[in-house]
Amino acid sequence: MCRPTHFDVTYSINPWMDPSTPTSTEVGLAQWKRLHDMFVDLGHDVRLIEPVPGLPDMVFAANGAIVVDGKVLVARFRHPQRVDEAAAYLDWFGRGDWSEVRQAEYVNEGEGDFLCVGGEILAGSGFRSDLRAHDEVREFFGRSVVSLTLVDPRFYHLDTALAVLGEREIMYYPAAFSQGSQEILAERFPDAILADEADAAVFGLNALSDGRNVILPRKAVGLATQLDERGYIPLGSDLTELLKAGGSVKCCTLELRGEGSSRPWPNP
Ligand code: ARG
Repeated sequence: MCRPTHFDVTYSINPWMDPSTPTSTEVGLAQWKRLHDMFVDLGHDVRLIEPVPGLPDMVFAANGAIVVDGKVLVARFRHPQRVDEAAAYLDWFGRGDWSEVRQAEYVNEGEGDFLCVGGEILAGSGFRSDLRAHDEVREFFGRSVVSLTLVDPRFYHLDTALAVLGEREIMYYPAAFSQGSQEILAERFPDAILADEADAAVFGLNALSDGRNVILPRKAVGLATQLDERGYIPLGSDLTELLKAGGSVKCCTLELRGEGSSRPWPNP
């Protein structure tokens, strides 16, 4: 995670960002800290990367890299406003104990667009990550990659439209995907939880599951009910200040998967 010390909305690279809307770094920090403390209270090992002045979106750590099997593919950002974040991640991972660390060749916004489910990686494109990045990820990690096309600009990263809940379970908002991608998802995940427009619009899918607890934006009440019915424990989080930049729970969290693992946390 990355503390939002320099959080602000000074430019617009997604439909949520309006630099004329006032933002409070203080409120953002307090909301982020509650999310951080929630992870710690659940027993998770949270590591922090130092925020860099002038990079207000750095709080969205999910975009920094993809980490699977102890290997790290650092992001290559699409927009010039975020390009310099990659150097901070290269440096951070370079100081850690990872079997391989390198930067992606093609535009690749990390876990914003690449999500592990089971042994596979679901990959988004349409707004941010380059389609060629999907092949690069397949080669680098030696895992199968399922390409999905995003079509609604409000849901510009895969992790704003789809969340992984467990080994084979996901939840998603169908209308965020192209017709062909909706068919792929329906076939692969016939039992998925489907979000409605209202829950998707409050970023309810920008959620993080450890297989049992699912932390999601508090306003996504319909999803919380569905999760509860499936035996998950939904935990509401209030990140409304960060939503002004187009991010929430999952965006703030990059999952670190060690050697021999496609999931960060042991099955609870
Ligand atoms: N303002 C950031 C951007 O547009 C938000 C990133 C949200 N991150 C995510 N993983 N969806 O790039």
